[in-house]
Amino acid sequence: MRARQPRPLTRRAFCGGLAALPAAWAEATADDAPSPAQLFHRDPPPITSAAQALDVMDFEPLARAALPPAHFGYLATGVDDDRTVARNHEAFSHYEIRAHRFADLSRFDTSCVVFGTRWPLPLYLSAVSGMRAFHPEAELAVARAARTRSLQLMLSTGASTAPEQVAEARGAPLWQQLYPTDDWQVTEAIVRRAETMGSTAIALTVDGAAEPRVNETLKRAMLADSRECTACHVNNRHDMWLKAPLLAGLDVSRVTRLRPPSVTPEFLDRLRKLVRGRLLIKGIVTGEDAATALEHGADALVVSNHGGRNEETLRATIDSLPEVVAAVRGRAPVFIDGGFRRGTDIFKALALGAAGVGIGRPQAWGLAAFGQPGVEAVIDIYARELGVIMRQAGTPTVASITAAQVVRAAG
Ligand code: FNR
Repeated sequence: MRARQPRPLTRRAFCGGLAALPAAWAEATADDAPSPAQLFHRDPPPITSAAQALDVMDFEPLARAALPPAHFGYLATGVDDDRTVARNHEAFSHYEIRAHRFADLSRFDTSCVVFGTRWPLPLYLSAVSGMRAFHPEAELAVARAARTRSLQLMLSTGASTAPEQVAEARGAPLWQQLYPTDDWQVTEAIVRRAETMGSTAIALTVDGAAEPRVNETLKRAMLADSRECTACHVNNRHDMWLKAPLLAGLDVSRVTRLRPPSVTPEFLDRLRKLVRGRLLIKGIVTGEDAATALEHGADALVVSNHGGRNEETLRATIDSLPEVVAAVRGRAPVFIDGGFRRGTDIFKALALGAAGVGIGRPQAWGLAAFGQPGVEAVIDIYARELGVIMRQAGTPTVASITAAQVVRAAG
């Protein structure tokens, strides 16, 4: 295999992808890969408890240190050169905050109402497939953290814990993320099970047309991982429909993919008829698709490029948000995820019209580093930082954050 030029590993060259891997992994070949033991003990971070972390990014190197290479590679990875992963975060610099000074901050409140439920923060935990790759307590630890912080949890189709157990640990209705597979009977069974256990929304992910994905960073990380995958992955299979507890007991013999080959408006219509609760469409990045999704029954949209994991568009979700909000014209809530690492990032999305922000990798970093307290600390940091910028900007409530609070950066 051709050795690649190592890239400098700066603290902000983060957010996943090759840049986040130790240079040795990037250069690794099958022959000279360092052993996992060497990698685990590289650059031990000085933080020993979740409370010591200053910002969300502190958890990424801790996760890297805690995880075997293949699992961290899976978490960090994007596609091609991993540029869209980084772009998602870098693009927040396209927007500057206009801070207003003469505001009454005596009644300060970061909460918001989503689908009639009050959230303490405009933040939710997005779907992150099989969390057991990151911590033995997996989705249960995440759900308990979501419970103590009263955050909405979107559970992946590929979650490594049965959804009923996660719902019980969360103590409130989940949003069930949906990979429908290419067998409608399986789609129906997933939706029914999710709704039976009390999920109030089904979030159809529409951003993964090319399957299977080819994630080079993951493949390189796997080369650096000499462990025997079969210890955890039964029969060394990674296919979600064969291992996810949500699909356990279903006849998946006809399933060949996580999604139909084409997700058409007709497919949305069919799903709309099936779903009794709310239907979210996750993975919208254009105004045209936003309009189509609403015409075909979506109750809400998630502006998302899957954290840059599926396509190298080089377009950050925060840059897609304004056209989606414009196309929606207030008819439905617009959520967004991708690269949110600071309270100011959340603030900017709210100012550009988002109803709430999802996080993917940061919850997994917190989980990998410290389990439930790590996820809680990640949430608390976002809450603190959002509170700071809301005060500084003169916006005492989420509703008071408007387009007047941001300006497109010059140049
Ligand atoms: C994801 N994401 C994801 N999305 C989804 O709809 N179903 C899924 O099963 C998964 N699985 C998954 C695994 C891992 C390891 C990651 C990092 C992400 C995407 C996720 O919900 C979200 O869109 C992005 O992660 C948001 O970007 P950030 O916050 O990770 O930058």
